[in-house]
Amino acid sequence: MGLLDGKKLLITGVLTDHSIAFHVARLAQQEGAEVVLTSFGRQFRLTQAIAKRLPAPAPVIELDVTNDEDLAALADRVREHVDHLDGVVHSIGFAPQSVMGGNFLAGQWADVATALEVSAFSLKSLAVAAKPLMTSGGSIVGLTFDASFAWPVYDWMGVAKAAFESTSRYLARDLGPDGIRVNLVSAGPIRTTAAKSIPGFEKMEGGWPERAPLGWDQTNPEPTARAVAALLSDWFPATTGEIVHVDGGVHAMGL
Ligand SMILES: NC(=O)c1ccc[n+]([C@@H]2O[C@H](COP(=O)([O-])OP(=O)(O)OC[C@H]3O[C@@H](n4cnc5c(N)ncnc54)[C@H](O)[C@@H]3O)[C@@H](O)[C@H]2O)c1
Repeated sequence: MGLLDGKKLLITGVLTDHSIAFHVARLAQQEGAEVVLTSFGRQFRLTQAIAKRLPAPAPVIELDVTNDEDLAALADRVREHVDHLDGVVHSIGFAPQSVMGGNFLAGQWADVATALEVSAFSLKSLAVAAKPLMTSGGSIVGLTFDASFAWPVYDWMGVAKAAFESTSRYLARDLGPDGIRVNLVSAGPIRTTAAKSIPGFEKMEGGWPERAPLGWDQTNPEPTARAVAALLSDWFPATTGEIVHVDGGVHAMGL
């Protein structure tokens, strides 16, 4: 019996086979789930091609999480493939390069606003759009990079992650009465497209394997994907508003 047997899941954020979301989708299918993916714009065909590398076919539907029409149409687009959802994965992040890379003080509001809308407010947008399908409750899981600290070069994306983490707690408050849990996985650095688009990303990941009591492999998204799968399962029935660290233990260490 699989951890996610019979679950119907909506998984955002599959861009390449390095994407954290790709490995979540792969594990979810291996554990018995039925998966619907989202993508948008020029990335759509790439996601469709990458989806062919999953163990089982997975339909891809259009969702730009900043587009009101896509959000309004989400439930109907999902219903073309599954009649309800048990889980939703938010694996979305974007900030213009101008607000990352070590020039925090020069950040301009228009670019900061984009980072906040795509990377933080989108969790609320996605949750509200998917809620009509979560008729028997369920689990929403997102991905963060520990926003308790000021990191090298992460800059306004770090501020967006702080807003994202707070958003998850307010969603946990407001969706709990409907039986919907909202939790995050705080991952250590993994070399994905989003990570490599951060100017100076090597300054963020530098020294991580040495600082992690369990060690850390920046090329391996599997531990992070496993934690997401666990939070999607029935094995955290009384956990919401939580952030589970999957970082080799770095968050718990002093200098
Ligand atoms: N890679 C890391 O080191 C790391 C560490 C901790 C947390 N995270 C988080 O994991 C999540 C997934 O990122 P990843 O590292 O797998 O990179 P990725 O580049 O593979 O995935 C990012 C995804 O965001 C999607 N996206 C961007 N703008 C969007 C929009 N407007 N609407 C819908 N989707 C949009 C992209 O299509 C892409 O699929 C992000 O939230 C990221 O911040 C990554």
